[in-house]
Amino acid sequence: MTAPETQAANAAFKPRIFSGIQPSGGLTLGNYLGALKRFVEKQDEGIETVYCLVDLHAITVWQDPDKLRHATREAAAGFLAAGIDPARSILFNQSQVSAHAELGWIFNCIARLGWMNRMTQFKDKAGKNAEAASLGLYAYPSLMAADILLYHATMVPVGEDQKQHVELTRDIAAKFNHDYGVEFFPMPEPVIEGAATRVMSLRDGTKKMSKSDPSDASRINLTDDADAIAQKIRKARTDPEPLPETVAGLADRPEAKNLVNIYAALAGTSPDAVVAEFAGQGFGAFKPALADLAVSVLTPISTEMTRLMADPAEIDRVLGGGADRAAAIAAPILDRTLEIMGMIRSRGA
Ligand code: TYM
Repeated sequence: MTAPETQAANAAFKPRIFSGIQPSGGLTLGNYLGALKRFVEKQDEGIETVYCLVDLHAITVWQDPDKLRHATREAAAGFLAAGIDPARSILFNQSQVSAHAELGWIFNCIARLGWMNRMTQFKDKAGKNAEAASLGLYAYPSLMAADILLYHATMVPVGEDQKQHVELTRDIAAKFNHDYGVEFFPMPEPVIEGAATRVMSLRDGTKKMSKSDPSDASRINLTDDADAIAQKIRKARTDPEPLPETVAGLADRPEAKNLVNIYAALAGTSPDAVVAEFAGQGFGAFKPALADLAVSVLTPISTEMTRLMADPAEIDRVLGGGADRAAAIAAPILDRTLEIMGMIRSRGA
């Protein structure tokens, strides 16, 4: 479907943003620059925004219950500290709105095995031992489609790695609409913008920065203090060349390109502007400038997260209030989906 066709298909739907982050382990700089920072920008543009801590996705690999609870509250604190305002955005954890799991099941019956077999994230996560992976890990993208379509969301801000899942969501929406002869679900668009749509590991510029990397030095965590941030940037892998005049000169230098992209995203500028400023300088000069910038942007967030985490009951109250508002949008959409499919809805009749 071309962009104008998507626009035409979505014209009947109110613009609404949905996105989610897994509360499995802490949030990384990749989550912040690729997702969270952009979630705040979208909220501030005045679009209706629904943001979800996807705990039902997290359990597709085993989670220690106490750690999951802690990680969910900490991720919520990260959202609030980064600027998500629960009065303007809906912020909640997925399992408090059971409609996600219900629509997820329905989409398991719409999605085709061939589609799921093409999902690269399953292949990456299941690795060589796919036989031992949970059925949930395999079905995960259809739950993600449910998350998005349960709100009739039209835009989904994500990092590059989630693009394939949003495309699958469109395929599921189109097949449902076609099979039942309706125009019920919109065609949500992945919104992948900015300089840091794929933040790479600080130890290996060809691997994505990830909370599951065994090396803590490979990532910056939103909970890291100033010393840890500065030390990780100082030790980040680079090459001996100075920075080039233009971004084209970074093409075969993945580590250098990554640090330039991180700088640009943190500063709210473009990689072109960053190389123009630092052209001809080596990493001896660039890394301290990047460390200062990262510390100045990230430490106010980690300080605020620590403050918020001192009152977990308040975080739970925010998530509960968000879940009530999310459920109020989701319930009629799920009801109508079931009706379209021929399910009798007669409770309380
Ligand atoms: P998750 O939890 O892995 O990541 C959350 C968001 O952070 C982005 N991201 C990155 N962006 C740039 N560089 C990186 N190194 C990096 N690492 C992570 C991801 O692209 C994502 O936007 N399946 C999703 C969660 C999800 C979801 C949804 C997202 C569930 N339902 C509905 C959107 C809409 C995931 O595992 O993201």
